[in-house]
Amino acid sequence: MNYIGSKFSILSYIDEVVEGVVKEKKDITFCDIFAGTGVVSKYFKEKGYNIISNDIEYFSYATLKGLIENSDELKFEKLQKKHIDPFICLNGLNGKKGFIYKNYSLGGTKKNEYQRQYFSDDNAKKIDACRIKIEKWKKKKLINEGEYYYLIACLIEAADKVANTASVYEAFLKEMKKSAYKPMIVNPLELIFKNKKYEIYNENSKDLIRKISGDILYLDPPYNNRKYDTNYHILETIALYDNPKIKGKTGTRVENTKKSNYCIKDKAAIELEDLIKNADFKYILLSYNDEGIIPIEKIEEMMKKYGNYKRYEKKHKRFKSDNERTYKKDYTIEYIHCLEKNK
Ligand SMILES: C[S@@+](CC[C@H](N)C(=O)[O-])C[C@H]1O[C@@H](n2cnc3c(N)ncnc32)[C@H](O)[C@@H]1O
Repeated sequence: MNYIGSKFSILSYIDEVVEGVVKEKKDITFCDIFAGTGVVSKYFKEKGYNIISNDIEYFSYATLKGLIENSDELKFEKLQKKHIDPFICLNGLNGKKGFIYKNYSLGGTKKNEYQRQYFSDDNAKKIDACRIKIEKWKKKKLINEGEYYYLIACLIEAADKVANTASVYEAFLKEMKKSAYKPMIVNPLELIFKNKKYEIYNENSKDLIRKISGDILYLDPPYNNRKYDTNYHILETIALYDNPKIKGKTGTRVENTKKSNYCIKDKAAIELEDLIKNADFKYILLSYNDEGIIPIEKIEEMMKKYGNYKRYEKKHKRFKSDNERTYKKDYTIEYIHCLEKNK
């Protein structure tokens, strides 16, 4: 998924920094407290670390439950007993005119105040049909919790691939793009099998930090005012499937209790310091780029209060989600601020 602030393309850089900073090599617990797509959690799961993974967004949590917490082969035993292969079944369903169709496709919104085309009519109906089926299997206890979240993760990924957007859902494109016409296919996503401990949370980092402990705390908070709840609201609705009240041309969710202080200039530094201060972790690594709303000097000054500080930096190609923004340069500098915390 093309996610704002995704660390997919700098995983090896993060790894280099971890290897350079962390002295312990055995039975490490790594916490990815702003996990987003889960690519960082997945990378360190592959390395054999115990993982604590968290995000305030439910669609991210569902993905983490599906892809990080599951660490054994999923057998779908009860479905198999009924000779149902979940993926063949989902991909063969007839479309349904559910919430996604009625609110986010042109066919479904043509008589509404706002016409929206986030998905083709057929794909919107398919998303509804799949999401309804997954919920039905769960209600009938034909799938267990691990299988449930795994299927939701696969559906989110599949829906995102055929969305008629420039990567984020704060707007849809006026003309349908080619990939949005392709029929949605729900594919099984890769799972990593390791015998370690995995904890997944859906909490505000401020609350969670007071309840957990480990070796490495990796911080990748939002670094500007682009909010994840509005930019990914449809993925949130597909994951929750809760018939929310929505508003305006973009159809964003009305109820919004998840405002992140990291997106607010006056609050971001206070929020970050609270996290660092209350972290029961030996090493804290913070990813932040040179365009973040907290100045680099402030981060350095803050971290130095709590232990030994070191900073790494690397040029990184910019995340581009639309054509309307103009940028002075096509790269950013990705800093990793490292702290070895005093006891
Ligand atoms: C820069 S992104 C993380 C990207 C992630 N490392 C990846 O590679 O996909 C920041 C994430 O922090 C989450 N977030 C924002 N404020 C939060 C908070 N207070 N507590 C927990 N998660 C938060 C957002 O939902 C978003 O997924």
